[in-house]
Amino acid sequence: MFHVETSRLVLRNWREGDVERFAAVTNTAAVMRWLGGVMDADRLAAFEGRVFGYQQDLGHTFWVVERKADGGHLSGEMLGFCGLKLIDAPGATFTGEMEIGWRLREEAWGQGYAKESAATSLDLGFDRFGAGAIFAITNIENTASWGLMTRLGMARRKDLDFVDPRFEPPLGDTIVHSITADEWRGRPG
Ligand SMILES: CC(C)(COP(=O)(O)OP(=O)(O)OC[C@H]1O[C@@H](n2cnc3c(N)ncnc32)[C@H](O)[C@@H]1OP(=O)(O)O)[C@@H](O)C(=O)NCCC(=O)NCCS
Repeated sequence: MFHVETSRLVLRNWREGDVERFAAVTNTAAVMRWLGGVMDADRLAAFEGRVFGYQQDLGHTFWVVERKADGGHLSGEMLGFCGLKLIDAPGATFTGEMEIGWRLREEAWGQGYAKESAATSLDLGFDRFGAGAIFAITNIENTASWGLMTRLGMARRKDLDFVDPRFEPPLGDTIVHSITADEWRGRPG
């Protein structure tokens, strides 16, 4: 069972019933603004299938993020997800590369939780799961998301930008950042 702790957080695999608790705190207009809006039951079921599928098939997923101070899973409190999958967005030319992604409930923004869970995910991606480089994708307008990519030391990859046809234009205008294992390990303290 995957369970990794950072100084303030727990990253863990999804369990039965988690997606309902996750949706209760993250399936909101603010959180889903750049992600196609609030998910209906069909989209939520597809989301559940994907996160469980990744952890089963890949050994990593967009892990559940909880705060240790809340008592972890015992309290049922969830901040959201952060973790690793493989790029499978239609339109991307680099499918199969490792992707880092994040989505936190609104009350958890602005406290460094996303950066803390992302830094641990990058460590895991390079050290445990053997990635040579890790990629992150987002809508060009999603400054909170690409700001985090920049704060992590990821480099803008204009050469890889693409249009994701699953979203209405301009929501599908996707920008790409990446970082190599050497760049991550050699980052300034
Ligand atoms: C993208 C997202 C995860 C970023 O979360 P975030 O909280 O802004 O990111 P960070 O964890 O890096 O936190 C940064 C902020 O916390 C502050 N902070 C407070 N305590 C901190 C600490 N101990 N360590 C680091 N930063 C801290 C920073 O100063 C910064 O504040 P600022 O934004 O006012 O400059 C969040 O906006 C989100 O979930 N959005 C909705 C879903 C989404 O769009 N996901 C991406 C799809 S591609």
